[in-house]
Amino acid sequence: MRTPVIAGNWKMYKTTAESQAFVKEFLPLVAGVQGVEIVLSPPFPSLSVVAALTSGTKVGVASQNVHFAAEGAYTGEVSPGMLKDAGAGYAIIGHSERRQYFAETDDGVNRKVKAVLAAGLVPIMCLGETLAEREAGRTFEVVERQLRADLSGVAAADAPTVIVAYEPVWAIGTGKTATKEQAQEVHAFLRGLVKEIFGGLVAEKIRILYGGSVKTENIAELMAQPDIDGALVGGASLKANSFAGIAKYR
Ligand code: 13P
Repeated sequence: MRTPVIAGNWKMYKTTAESQAFVKEFLPLVAGVQGVEIVLSPPFPSLSVVAALTSGTKVGVASQNVHFAAEGAYTGEVSPGMLKDAGAGYAIIGHSERRQYFAETDDGVNRKVKAVLAAGLVPIMCLGETLAEREAGRTFEVVERQLRADLSGVAAADAPTVIVAYEPVWAIGTGKTATKEQAQEVHAFLRGLVKEIFGGLVAEKIRILYGGSVKTENIAELMAQPDIDGALVGGASLKANSFAGIAKYR
């Protein structure tokens, strides 16, 4: 049985004061939620504040990015150990916005996944096709290339810790959610690939989240799909009420 994960990616939104206000409003709203891992991913400056406020609760904290080195002369970067020290338990890696605007490659994503696992954090590893790739009928080829490259060299013992987030780029921030059938089809394909690479046990355990215009109105039907184990939510995670509604999808 895979524990579902509902993660909110705040992207570059919320000051520290706004982050604090969110958490204070949010925690009572999800106090009754059982059997769901809830994760908040604030911008770096609010990370330790959100971690302190959620410490001892069922709500975990993720960074939105990470560097693969433990330390060094990498101006502007943050290491896995520093994130752990700040209270993060997860790190989002390879989000399509990072791939698109900050030239992240599968090789870089792979190095980050391994570094984050070594530091004892949970990678939330994002992949997904663009609209042009989907329209050209290349969805499966693209996500297969990404999954294989991003998980290359990861030990089978570590693989179940990884959370994969399938985020079709055309569904991010567009209001255009993949249909539950479109999402399930890709999730089942990805789980099949994990089985091929790491074996059936890992495929049974690994969580695969869907991301792209998830909201309270569509979360239940997405979560009802057999291979959808949670959601990575952008816009709808910015308001405590709406994100709590998503976390309480059942
Ligand atoms: P939206 O939910 O705003 O479409 O964003 C999805 C996303 O990019 C989460 O990482």
